[in-house]
Amino acid sequence: MTQTLTLRRPDDWHLHLRDGDMLRAVLPHSAAHFARAIIMPNLVPPVVTGAQAAAYRDRILAALPIGADFTPLMTLYLTEDTDPDDVAAAHASGLIRAVKLYPAGATTNSASGVSDFSRVAPMLERMADIGLPLCTHGEVTDPAVDIFDREAVFIDRVLDPIRRDYPGLRVILEHITTEDAADYVRSAPENLAATITTHHLVINRNHILAGGIRPHYYCLPVAKRETHRLALRRAATSGDPRFFLGTDSAPHTDANKLLPCGCAGCFTAPNTLSILAEVFEQDAALDRLEAFTSLNGPAFYGLPPNDTTITLVRTPPSYPMHIPTPDGPVTVFDPDMALNWSVS
Ligand code: NCD
Ligand code: ZN
Repeated sequence: MTQTLTLRRPDDWHLHLRDGDMLRAVLPHSAAHFARAIIMPNLVPPVVTGAQAAAYRDRILAALPIGADFTPLMTLYLTEDTDPDDVAAAHASGLIRAVKLYPAGATTNSASGVSDFSRVAPMLERMADIGLPLCTHGEVTDPAVDIFDREAVFIDRVLDPIRRDYPGLRVILEHITTEDAADYVRSAPENLAATITTHHLVINRNHILAGGIRPHYYCLPVAKRETHRLALRRAATSGDPRFFLGTDSAPHTDANKLLPCGCAGCFTAPNTLSILAEVFEQDAALDRLEAFTSLNGPAFYGLPPNDTTITLVRTPPSYPMHIPTPDGPVTVFDPDMALNWSVS
């Protein structure tokens, strides 16, 4: 039985670090394991301009523990008023690596997102020209669409039309939760990829709703039925270069999760790699873990894989169940299964 596993250092292609006290509390957990991460721009107010992204990057770098080796890859939040010249300049300088599309109202802090897609047409054209990828939160916000169908409907109503209008645009369908999304990505040319979170490989909607409501399993897009979870596992463990890790680790304090109307998000930064090793081993795919965590993402983003490595050892991990912040604890995602691998 394999006892150690050495991988190129992983990257996280979708991460929420927040700001201020929360940033300082959660950043060390990502920086301990990941070399780089695509940083989500959904702060309040959102990161919309190059100047805001530069200032946010500086706050992240200032919050890093001494000696940490971690590079934040910045993104801009696409609004209907986003200035294509500002975005192109931020891309040309190497500051930003992607632009994030949130349909208005789709998730946490998405009120400034896009409602009228004709207003972002010049921006999307420019991004296709300069090779700047579009990250998409793939859910429609139409209240008439059932929440469990919102990803599949997004593909038909929003993503497919965008890809037909801008065939050169590089697009990432983020945190996919359905077999429909995995199949769509597989059927598309190579300028479409998908990220998959750790938690969506582990939980289905029963975990959230059966036998009592479990707010810490509530995230967006919401976990779907078991057939979809199994489809995501096949995609993640397949080695197919269009699927890679984006944890969507999204910390909220317990006070904000455990409410009559609680926040969406699972905080997986501290135990993601232990969980993924378990998942890949269960599916007899440990030899493909590195592709998912460390190779496919950089290849899609046009970056080299990391030179450094991390080693996982077959030892149950120890990590805190809660992370303290000045505003109260953040609960770490409970994978609801024994874990046998830890980062050494
Ligand atoms: C994210 C957050 O809290 O910022 N929440 C989530 O459930 N994933 C937003 C997002 O990525 O949808
Ligand atoms: Zn997210």
